[in-house]
Amino acid sequence: MCPPEHFVVEYEINPWMDAATPVDAELAVKQWDALRETLCGFGHEVHVLSPEIGLPDMVFAANGAFTVDGVAYGARFKYPQRTAEAVAHRRYYADREPWRFVAPTETNEGEGDFAYLPDAYGGTILAGYGFRTETTAHAEAQEVLGRPVLSLRLVDPRFYHLDVALAAIDDTNIAYYPDAFSESSQRVLAQLFPDAVRADELDALAFGLNLVSDGRHVVLSHEAGGLAAKLAAAEYVPVQVDLSELKKGGGSVKCCVAELRT
Ligand code: ARG
Repeated sequence: MCPPEHFVVEYEINPWMDAATPVDAELAVKQWDALRETLCGFGHEVHVLSPEIGLPDMVFAANGAFTVDGVAYGARFKYPQRTAEAVAHRRYYADREPWRFVAPTETNEGEGDFAYLPDAYGGTILAGYGFRTETTAHAEAQEVLGRPVLSLRLVDPRFYHLDVALAAIDDTNIAYYPDAFSESSQRVLAQLFPDAVRADELDALAFGLNLVSDGRHVVLSHEAGGLAAKLAAAEYVPVQVDLSELKKGGGSVKCCVAELRT
């Protein structure tokens, strides 16, 4: 995670960002801190990346890489405003055991467009394309990480990353908003994940799917009450947090967290 000390909305690269809307960075840091404490409270270890002036989207740490079994596949951002963030993430993995960092040649925004289900079909990567990550990066990720990558086409610009439309809720199952995907991708998801939790448009627009789950606790936006109820009915423990300031940048819980799968 990376604290939003320098968070502002000064450019617009997704439909949620409006450079004319002021951001309260102090409140953003408070909300981010509460998220960090929530995760620590469940026994998770959180590593903190130093925020850099001039890189306001660094708080969305999920975009910096994608890790599976000790291998970190680096990001290559679509927009120049975020390019330099990849360097900070690379430095994090390069200096640390047990990581093996692999630099990308193809455009991909890390965990923003990649999700991992360790026990689905022996380990499956779900990958989004259509707005940010290129399908050539899906093939590259499969080569680098040695797990099958399933390409899913995103069709609604409001859901420009996979992680605002779909989330792993445990080692085998997902929650998702079907209409964010092409009809064929919806069929693929319905075929592979018949027991998935389906979110409605309201919960998806509240960034409810931009969640972090440890298989039991599911941390998600305070605005996604409908999805929280569905998760509770499926015997997960929903934990709702307020990240209203970061929503102005087009992200929520999951965007703030890069999962370290060693
Ligand atoms: N402003 C950022 C962008 O548009 C938000 C990234 C959100 N991160 C995520 N993992 N969906 O790139």
